[in-house]
Amino acid sequence: MILILDFGSQYTQLIARRLREAGVYAEIYPYNLELDRLFKLAPKGVILSGGPASVYQEQAPDIRDEVLSAGCPVLGICYGMYLLAHHLGGRSARAHAREYGPATLVIDEAAGLFEGLNGHDQPVWMSHGDRVEAIPPSLRAIAHTANSPYAAVRSLDGRLWGVQFHPEVAHTVAGAQILRNFAYNICGEQGDWKLKDFAETKIAEIRERVGERDQVLMGLSGGVDSAVAAALISRALGPRLHCVFVDTGLLRAGERQRIEQGFAARLRIELRVVDAAELFLRQLAGVIDPEQKRRIIGHTFIEVFEREAHRLEGIRFLGQGTLYPDVIESIPLKGPSVTIKTHHNVGGLPERMRLALIEPLRELFKDEARQVGRELGLPDEIVEAEPFPGPGLAVRIVGEVTQERLTVLRAADQIVMEEIRAAGLASQLWQAFAVLLALKSVGVMGDERSYDNVIAVRAVRSLDGMTADWARLDSSLLDRLSTRITNEVKGINRVVYDVTPKPPATIEWE
Ligand code: XMP
Repeated sequence: MILILDFGSQYTQLIARRLREAGVYAEIYPYNLELDRLFKLAPKGVILSGGPASVYQEQAPDIRDEVLSAGCPVLGICYGMYLLAHHLGGRSARAHAREYGPATLVIDEAAGLFEGLNGHDQPVWMSHGDRVEAIPPSLRAIAHTANSPYAAVRSLDGRLWGVQFHPEVAHTVAGAQILRNFAYNICGEQGDWKLKDFAETKIAEIRERVGERDQVLMGLSGGVDSAVAAALISRALGPRLHCVFVDTGLLRAGERQRIEQGFAARLRIELRVVDAAELFLRQLAGVIDPEQKRRIIGHTFIEVFEREAHRLEGIRFLGQGTLYPDVIESIPLKGPSVTIKTHHNVGGLPERMRLALIEPLRELFKDEARQVGRELGLPDEIVEAEPFPGPGLAVRIVGEVTQERLTVLRAADQIVMEEIRAAGLASQLWQAFAVLLALKSVGVMGDERSYDNVIAVRAVRSLDGMTADWARLDSSLLDRLSTRITNEVKGINRVVYDVTPKPPATIEWE
């Protein structure tokens, strides 16, 4: 196992993911993990992640000297490298020019971390405001860039390594190879770990945590994440898992019917449908702020689950399909990072929740969760379903959520789903949907003036939901969408297409 200490970078989980892709098991812990726990884990190597702090800030997150002298290899990335240099007596400072984005790394020592790379000039991705200005005699520079004389370093004994760039992001072309080199050549890992092992480890963990008698309640949303999480929990506990599907009234057209007609049967799990549309709409009345909507929905879900738990007796746990991007963008997973938006099932939970959470997919990305689903033998229609946010259509209605506005959005969204499917694009896009804006505009229909709502169509390509690009849809498809939505959906006189990537936007509008 390789242990990653998290100093708050938005990319920490990508380090674990790159290692998993190389068949190496990795776990992420907060940077200040207690030393005895760290030593008990007996990692074959330690990676210090990047982070937003500067080593010269007061109370900057730090490591203990013992981590560096423990004997196993250590790789510091960006902030992790400054820490390393700092502990060994080097000097960092604000760089004259901050570097964000691509840079060319010139490799001066093509061994160890840089073994087998194609060429001495490597495109790498930087994101830093500091740089190492002077290195101590125990370190030696092994690569540089135009802005950084010490863009990569190693200790003379070859045990401590540091890189200023981010090998974990896709823009660092040889990044995966560099991390693999660290794991294989430097830490002596074999690369024999698989996602299948992940499923087995998680099933054993769930059994141990829940014990012999307790029961688990779980909400199935109809999506991939909750289905895969439920399949894992069901393998671990059998009939001690109880699943409910909550009809929030915020669902897409046809969704409840799909769940009722066979979804649970295909998962081989018993499912109860709870009608809570009125409750959700009542709680959301008059609410406009997106974060408040998310919190209310999170709380209302828990209210419904607690009521169900009460009905069933013996329930002590709540299962959830939370994935890593839900966590990293909502609250720090295990270290100090920044909140982007509160995903309904993470930051939206009330503080005094009576049920303990079981979230077996909490460290995976969506495509990995899909892979686990395949390993568990779930059918394609479940593992390939398009992502749909837990707060549902509520975060696709900018402004107040009302029954009338839901009806308008649902009708427009159904047209988007139908046309995307008919064009054979459903499996190529990460998501395609309609958003109802809090905006009216003037139109002319027949010979009449209209003053009606605007629908934005959003279609994106993405690998993991962390970054995304807008889909270059064919103009004839856009034309069909616009014609059908304005003709068929009463209350809409204008359709716009969203051409913003993530970042700077997010995929959903709220
Ligand atoms: P954003 O809008 O943050 O979304 O770029 C990234 C991906 O996550 C989905 N999403 C959610 N999923 N609960 C979920 O289960 C949520 O609260 C939530 N908010 C966004 C979104 O649809 C996209 O695929």
